[in-house]
Amino acid sequence: MVDPNGSGRRTPSADRSRRPPSSFVEDANVTDPGIHEAFETEWPDCWERAADLLEWDEPYGTVLDDADAPFYRWFTGGRLNASHNCLDRHVDGGAKNHAAIRWEGKHGESRTYTYRELYTAVNAFAAALGELGVGEGDVVTIYLPTIPELPIAMLACARIGAPHSVVYAGLSADRLATRLEAADSDHLVTCDGYYRRGDAFNQKRKVDNAVLSLSRSVETVVVDRLGGAFEHDLADGQYDYDTLVDAHAGTTVEPVPRDAEEMLFLMYTSGTTGEPKGVVHTTGGYLAYAAWTARAVLDLKPEDTHWCTADIGWITGHSYVVYGPLALGTTTLMYEGSPDYPDRDRLWEIVDRNAVDVFYTAPTVIQAAMKWGEEYPARHDLSSLRLLGTVGEPISPRPWEWYHEHVGGGECPIVDTWWQTETGGHVVTTLPAIDGMKPGAAGPGLPGHDVRILDDAGEEVEPGRAGYLALGRPWPGMARTLYGNDERFLEEYWREFSDPEDDEWIYFGGDAAVVDADGYVTVLGRVDDVISVGGHRLSTMEIESVILEVAGVAEAAVVGAEATGVYAYVSVERGHDDESAIEERIKERIETAIGPIARPEAVIFASDLPKTRSGKIMRRLLEDVAAGEELGDTSALRNPEIVGEIQSSVRNC
Ligand code: PRX
Repeated sequence: MVDPNGSGRRTPSADRSRRPPSSFVEDANVTDPGIHEAFETEWPDCWERAADLLEWDEPYGTVLDDADAPFYRWFTGGRLNASHNCLDRHVDGGAKNHAAIRWEGKHGESRTYTYRELYTAVNAFAAALGELGVGEGDVVTIYLPTIPELPIAMLACARIGAPHSVVYAGLSADRLATRLEAADSDHLVTCDGYYRRGDAFNQKRKVDNAVLSLSRSVETVVVDRLGGAFEHDLADGQYDYDTLVDAHAGTTVEPVPRDAEEMLFLMYTSGTTGEPKGVVHTTGGYLAYAAWTARAVLDLKPEDTHWCTADIGWITGHSYVVYGPLALGTTTLMYEGSPDYPDRDRLWEIVDRNAVDVFYTAPTVIQAAMKWGEEYPARHDLSSLRLLGTVGEPISPRPWEWYHEHVGGGECPIVDTWWQTETGGHVVTTLPAIDGMKPGAAGPGLPGHDVRILDDAGEEVEPGRAGYLALGRPWPGMARTLYGNDERFLEEYWREFSDPEDDEWIYFGGDAAVVDADGYVTVLGRVDDVISVGGHRLSTMEIESVILEVAGVAEAAVVGAEATGVYAYVSVERGHDDESAIEERIKERIETAIGPIARPEAVIFASDLPKTRSGKIMRRLLEDVAAGEELGDTSALRNPEIVGEIQSSVRNC
């Protein structure tokens, strides 16, 4: 929990003189400094500006219906189709030959889809899904790596009104099975395999295992990603993607107009308990918000090539690889590989070759690139870049400065965007042409938001004091509920600070933050048992319970540390002293049960874990040890002598 008397650990520079160059401001999408105030006076109608970025089949009657708060409803009565908004209107509006997707494959292959080509591919697959019996409202699970068939499948679902649930391709068979089950999903789109670093990796085997473990049958479409060299069999109820699509080539499927409040997609994310939460996003509010923030914060224009490096399996990919950019008619770049393969200049080589205008990534990527050295970006012409962004974790001033100088050439504004799966899009960030930048601070709330930093009693804390980052007003992109579990939605986000008697609803998403006198928010990190690693959200409890299944492990505590990933602290049972064998088993078990993203960076063995007098493991302290930070007072510990031992193990690992 936040120490209300403590102050933020990361102190952003007070220098507000970092203004974007005037060339950026002149051409920016949002330049009116009065926008914050305009949104205040016009709230909630100000959000019509977001809705106006879309084409509606039927206009909405009310901007915000709060009768059933906090189950807010936006743009009620309106009807629209997301696939129409991302495709048809650009094709019909004269942009049919404009590039929609540029895809960079693992082995140097590339594919470009114009809006017309993407439209054709989406229509054919929408027809195929229809033939498989997918109807409006049926949840289709998609389990694909970064290949064009992923956004094609998403948009095909959207076209026929079938919500999609994309499961990150790196998650395990177990996790896929839980998500299929939880979403009542009878249809799955996946592939035979994909390349991880240099190696082909069998995805279909994972799928077959997941499906076998379910009680009902799941119709499965399999994309052939690996080609003829890697044969795969199709069982009953499994279909080859190309064969299906070829059979429907040239078919046009009319987009199904959906009520603004109907579900566009489900996105499972980690909560504080091991059970994943199915965050529900809607067709009208979500799409309007993704488009509005992509335009206002990322400054996207149709003529831009935008590269968001996030995997589409996470919310950042949904909002800023697929829906936001395509709704605006921009060219979106997808990259299948890793930043250091075949060499450490891979990112910059792609920026150079594609003349990328806007680049959006996670602080971990910047930190890794900084470690590799400035000679890698220096090898390439990065002058096409106009704006840089970060998301997923706090970015400290040093990597911020490195990014600004060595990637942006000192000329590109940086937006540090704080948001969450549940918020659908950016919430706390600067507007790049309007607000000055402070390295280390994300910025003020976006126009229309009421960002508050609260103490335990729900009172706003003074600037400079750490508190809970809470939102006092709803916004169109907010999650509407957790799939099939309204009660958990209330419990997880609305109970902490709201006053239902007074109909005052305050959203709390689990982060601590500190605000300065200018209203700039520095995010300190999660206060619950959720960690963010490289833009991926993981539950520490979920990882700990997997570690505890390994023979010989007595206790486990998992923490995340900025730029270092997952740290697992483990004490072993008497008689199990082969630590390296246990470490290997822990890593393997985590990879199978959850996926490689949860694989610990380090497993630290200790004879005991630091505990309070009541026996609770002090995770905060373990986080500080992992980050190499100075430790505060450890006198509240029952076993303070253990801290020195753990610190030296961390230094040696
Ligand atoms: O802790 C915050 C961190 O990522 C969490 C949300 O994770 P997820 O739902 O997976 O979405 C990630 C992409 C939006 C938040 O609760 N986080 C996100 N952006 C930032 C951040 N922490 C600090 N600064 C950010 N800019």
